[in-house]
Amino acid sequence: MYFAPVQGHTDAPYRYYHARIYGADAIYYTPFIRWEKGGVRKQDLKSIEGDMAQGYRLIPQIIFRDGIELNSLISAMRESGAMEIDLNMGCPFPLQTARGRGAATILNTSLADEVVKAVNENSDITFSVKMRLGLESPDEWHSLLSRLNEVSLSHVTLHPRYAKQQYGGEVYLDQFAEFLDVSKNPVVYNGDILTPEDAARIKSRFPGIEEIMIGRGALGRPSLIHEIASGEEWDRPRRLSTMLKFHRALYDHYTETLCGEHQALSKLKPFWEYAEKEIGRKAWKAIKKAVNMAKYHSAVAIVQDSL
Ligand SMILES: Cc1cc2nc3c(=O)[nH]c(=O)nc-3n(C[C@H](O)[C@H](O)[C@H](O)COP(=O)(O)O)c2cc1C
Repeated sequence: MYFAPVQGHTDAPYRYYHARIYGADAIYYTPFIRWEKGGVRKQDLKSIEGDMAQGYRLIPQIIFRDGIELNSLISAMRESGAMEIDLNMGCPFPLQTARGRGAATILNTSLADEVVKAVNENSDITFSVKMRLGLESPDEWHSLLSRLNEVSLSHVTLHPRYAKQQYGGEVYLDQFAEFLDVSKNPVVYNGDILTPEDAARIKSRFPGIEEIMIGRGALGRPSLIHEIASGEEWDRPRRLSTMLKFHRALYDHYTETLCGEHQALSKLKPFWEYAEKEIGRKAWKAIKKAVNMAKYHSAVAIVQDSL
């Protein structure tokens, strides 16, 4: 099972402590890595090479708008020792799509040529692609997928929305079914899996999928991937007490490595963003509102007290 890349959340410390506390059931991706000012940012390289990138399986993901960025990033990943690379062809952030990256690449036919060429020329590296149905409508994927069918990929992950929807609104399951039918490469389903039942429903509706990928559902309920993999659903006290341990590890890490309470707080608070259902509205709102560490601790204590 795959833990989806989520900018600002699934950074190296998050992945490292998640794998240590929940068992390394998941295969993790880095949030997208981009080509910036003629190179890859130091912090991005550290996130794939450093101590916190060890002990679990990690696939770096790159985002690009043309053959130059694509090939430069592949070389940089290769130098970092990566043998697997995921190509982001689905990011809906307007800052990326406006510059021709992410979901904007779905309709870029000359870039599809570059992707096919790069995959063929780097045959020692295993590639995967993560994409959406389109940029502005759910039926724009056909041409890109037929190009991707020309090469061998470990899988294509599809989040069956188009970019303009961002992360809400309908998931187009009929389009997903068609995509699964047309793809010659294995297909991974991604989108709105929040419970073990959701995962079971997707697997039974689409028995042809290779795997599922989970993002927000696993951020809100960090045991989810482990629960699905083991086939054993955890009760609420076990889920919450383990989640508190996990967040405590992140707290210890960030208060040690970041300078000052404010910086640590602004890193830690978003980790609870998708957990409202899991921890309850009262605790969730209190964490969101916490303006200092003392308030953060008393907000987290509401979770502890609810056990
Ligand atoms: C805040 C945020 C940041 C994201 N960053 C990335 C990213 O860096 N790369 C990527 O491929 N997808 C990114 N995604 C998309 C997720 O990987 C995933 O495809 C999406 O959230 C749908 O799956 P889910 O419903 O399981 O969360 C991001 C999503 C969110 C909400």
